[in-house]
Amino acid sequence: MKAIVQEAYGSSSVLKFRDIGLPVVKDDEVLVRVRAASVHPDVWHVVTGQPYVLRLMGSGLRRPRNPVPGTDMAGVVESTGARATRFRPGDEVFGETLRSMQWKNGGAYAEYVAVPEANLAPKPANVSFEQAATVATAGLIALMNMPPGPYGDVLVNGAAGGVGSIALQVAKARRGTVTGVEHPGKLDLVRALGADHLIDCTKEDFTRRGERYDLIVDVPGNHTFAEVRRVLRPTGTYVLIGHDHYGAAGRKVLGSLPRFGKLMAQSMVNRQLPKPTRSLPPKQDMMEELRGLLESGRLTPVIDRAFPLAETAAALRYLAEGTARGRVVVTP
Ligand SMILES: NC(=O)c1ccc[n+]([C@@H]2O[C@H](COP(=O)([O-])OP(=O)(O)OC[C@H]3O[C@@H](n4cnc5c(N)ncnc54)[C@H](OP(=O)(O)O)[C@@H]3O)[C@@H](O)[C@H]2O)c1
Repeated sequence: MKAIVQEAYGSSSVLKFRDIGLPVVKDDEVLVRVRAASVHPDVWHVVTGQPYVLRLMGSGLRRPRNPVPGTDMAGVVESTGARATRFRPGDEVFGETLRSMQWKNGGAYAEYVAVPEANLAPKPANVSFEQAATVATAGLIALMNMPPGPYGDVLVNGAAGGVGSIALQVAKARRGTVTGVEHPGKLDLVRALGADHLIDCTKEDFTRRGERYDLIVDVPGNHTFAEVRRVLRPTGTYVLIGHDHYGAAGRKVLGSLPRFGKLMAQSMVNRQLPKPTRSLPPKQDMMEELRGLLESGRLTPVIDRAFPLAETAAALRYLAEGTARGRVVVTP
């Protein structure tokens, strides 16, 4: 099959378009013929091998253990493993290829990928393969971090991005009144996604306004928790998603991990921070929730641009420029 192969960490030029063998399908996996796969910041992290700590966290010390990047996709079931019973050949599906954390290559940038069946959901007919391909990894991050609804006043910082656009739409579906914070060129997209109020981050600092929020989902993390608390109600929740801005944040060794560690420690004494020990719904249930949101039209992924699989390196460079208005995908 045709695939993108990464034999070293480095710039996007390490990505080569090659012929390789089909993936081995484990008993609980499904072989999917990929129709589209998403390009997102965590792919950039594993291609560059930054922050360096990810190499110790299972990605591979000197080079990626799995040479084929990509963690989420949509496609058509080709065959099923001996113990995989939920899908049949010909079913249209979407999902995440990785069993655990996202800082690893997941094999989605190829014509075929083997995926644990619990990580898949049926692709609703009302969304394209390109749209469905962008939902799993960003959507699972949003759902894992957001407390259960219904919500009151919600602020999403970075509301046009991969995770922010899903958090915004999940918050609306859970009956929140949503304020979206973004750069001016993306505010019309944030409005189209359903935000009730808009803040231009180049003109206003949301931590210095009079409004108060019950939930703040913060993707760029450009304010300290002490600053954000000024506008968080005492019973509210602050969720940091984090973004290293393709290396511009300068945290080459540990990335945002020290900041997450500090918030986790503070969560022991501060109820506005989610506890690391909280129980999370199983992935299959979260995939089912994302499927339902897509099918009912309450979650609509916006595609900025699709690149052919052979041009994945260009797609990654385009993503890192930060000008995309919507999601970037590659198609085999
Ligand atoms: N998307 C995925 O599928 C996915 C999957 C796994 C993990 N993650 C992780 O989740 C995090 C977020 O990823 P993402 O995909 O949501 O990133 P993203 O698509 O780049 O979204 C971030 C958004 O925040 C905006 N922004 C930047 N600075 C801002 C500021 N000061 N105020 C308001 N908005 C600002 C960005 O605008 P500009 O681009 O114009 O700066 C961008 O629209 C990353 O750490 C990533 O590794 C994402």
